[in-house]
Amino acid sequence: MGFSLKLLTLGAAAASATNLFVSDYSGAVTSFALTASNNGTYTLNDTFSTNECAPSPSWLTIDSNRGLLFCLNEGLTTPNGSLSSFTIERDGSLTHVKNATTITGPVSGVVYGAAAGQRAIALAHYSGSAVSSYLLNGGGKFGLNQQLTFSLSEPGAVPDRQDAPHEHEAILDPTDQYLLVPDLGADLVRVFTYDDDTLKLKELSPLEVAPGTGPRHAVFWNAYGVACESCLTYFYLVGELASTVTGFAVEYLPNGGGLNFTQINNSSTYGLLNQPEGNAPAEIQVTPDNRFLIISNRNNTSFNLPEPDGSILASDSMSTFKLQTDGSIVWHQLWPSGGSYPRMFSIDKTGSLVAVGNQNSQNVVILKRDVATGLIGEPVARAGLVGNTTCVVWDE
Ligand SMILES: *[C@@H]1O[C@H](CO)[C@@H](O)[C@H](O)[C@H]1NC(C)=O
Ligand SMILES: *[C@@H]1O[C@H](CO)[C@@H](O)[C@H](O)[C@H]1NC(C)=O
Ligand SMILES: *[C@@H]1O[C@H](CO)[C@@H](O)[C@H](O)[C@H]1NC(C)=O
Ligand SMILES: *[C@@H]1O[C@H](CO)[C@@H](O)[C@H](O)[C@H]1NC(C)=O
Ligand SMILES: *[C@@H]1O[C@H](CO)[C@@H](O)[C@H](O)[C@H]1NC(C)=O
Ligand SMILES: *[C@@H]1O[C@H](CO)[C@@H](O)[C@H](O)[C@H]1NC(C)=O
Ligand SMILES: *[C@@H]1O[C@H](CO)[C@@H](O)[C@H](O)[C@H]1NC(C)=O
Ligand SMILES: *[C@@H]1O[C@H](CO)[C@@H](O)[C@H](O)[C@H]1NC(C)=O
Ligand SMILES: *[C@@H]1O[C@H](CO)[C@@H](O)[C@H](O)[C@H]1NC(C)=O
Ligand SMILES: *[C@@H]1O[C@H](CO)[C@@H](O)[C@H](O)[C@H]1NC(C)=O
Repeated sequence: MGFSLKLLTLGAAAASATNLFVSDYSGAVTSFALTASNNGTYTLNDTFSTNECAPSPSWLTIDSNRGLLFCLNEGLTTPNGSLSSFTIERDGSLTHVKNATTITGPVSGVVYGAAAGQRAIALAHYSGSAVSSYLLNGGGKFGLNQQLTFSLSEPGAVPDRQDAPHEHEAILDPTDQYLLVPDLGADLVRVFTYDDDTLKLKELSPLEVAPGTGPRHAVFWNAYGVACESCLTYFYLVGELASTVTGFAVEYLPNGGGLNFTQINNSSTYGLLNQPEGNAPAEIQVTPDNRFLIISNRNNTSFNLPEPDGSILASDSMSTFKLQTDGSIVWHQLWPSGGSYPRMFSIDKTGSLVAVGNQNSQNVVILKRDVATGLIGEPVARAGLVGNTTCVVWDE
């Protein structure tokens, strides 16, 4: 009894820390510890840094159950990209396992395959116009499984964002049967099925979107948080070039034949507000309570935030929409992201903190969030990075 009491007392006095991993274009992957004090304040301290995913870390995929972190190097200044794996240590440091050369430009990855069976990681390659797959062999070891490269029937005559296919993200549907890859250059969301044993991908009919949409990132949603073929399932796509969020009802075709999409909502990512010129939305996430969609808006300073030293910080924004049972979305809030170009953000599992990676401000900002109202609030902590921030993930 006395022992338990002593532990309890210690627990209350010592602050609790949560780790985050942040990548930036200087070549670093940095571990941060976010520590909550009893008086409600937070400190965000860097605890570890590695350059083993250099030169251009663009994306982090965490496999918390197995204590692994996969880092994609986009290879902005080299002919190829790379996939690096790390084991996550108890203190938040990372031990490098492997770095393998890939097709250029990987910017997003997702682990797929049976939870207890053979698994693989699929990568979306933006500049390489490709999707690749690497079989995971335990402990962070992996080997090449497949490379699929895409082209346009009519390639662009002038270099622009739609002169070629640009695979921008890899996500799974709620039943884990399909891999979806928004293609910013081709105005498609590519849909793949896969063989359960070999994990080889096979392309099915894609979702075709309006010309100029520029599909970037997407999420699935079901009002009851369930996953099944006959459930009412919805899909929300961010069009970076058109600055839109488009909702679709998803129908599962029989016999693993793919997905059929019916558009239900289409709006600027600013909802009913006037959208700033040149807005380029990036990330989209469903909140852990399954009630809201959050989207980051880049490339226009919607807010000017006063800094403690009297200077002004130009800040882009976060949009929140409320999800309705029928799949429609309703505008809820516009709020500063705490810097310029929020390329990526991650919500903690309680839904009460949002970690935002502001690419051009070279920072990570932790925003408080009211779970009951769904409103994002003031920053509680902030840290600077050496290079432009690309990705931030919670280790929980
Ligand atoms: C809150 O607690 C932290 C850590 O003990 C301390 O550094 C900070 O000054 C406190 N802040 C306030 C407003 O009391
Ligand atoms: C964070 O770092 C500062 C400066 O190095 C140090 O004073 C402080 O104790 C650290 N806080 C925690 C919670 O580790
Ligand atoms: C990983 O591989 C890439 C691509 O070959 C290479 O450019 C990079 O230097 C390698 N990184 C490390 C840390 O070995
Ligand atoms: C590296 O890039 C070259 C040129 O795009 C490509 O042909 C090659 O397959 C890539 N290497 C790997 C291992 O993917
Ligand atoms: C997809 O849904 C539409 C209705 O939105 C329907 O007309 C079409 O036949 C469906 N396609 C397939 C392949 O089932
Ligand atoms: C989505 O569609 C519903 C139903 O038509 C509409 O009430 C709602 O305003 C739309 N949302 C946006 C953000 O346009
Ligand atoms: C969606 O709305 C935007 C304007 O916000 C418009 O430019 C675009 O064409 C619409 N897309 C579709 C598929 O209706
Ligand atoms: C942001 O948008 C406003 C309104 O469309 C426009 O006047 C302004 O030039 C834009 N600023 C930047 C930095 O793009
Ligand atoms: C940023 O906005 C400006 C117009 O305000 C536009 O010319 C530029 O292409 C935009 N940049 C990106 C990366 O979207
Ligand atoms: C990095 O951020 C600076 C502003 O701090 C911006 O001018 C530059 O375009 C960014 N580059 C990349 C590759 O993100």
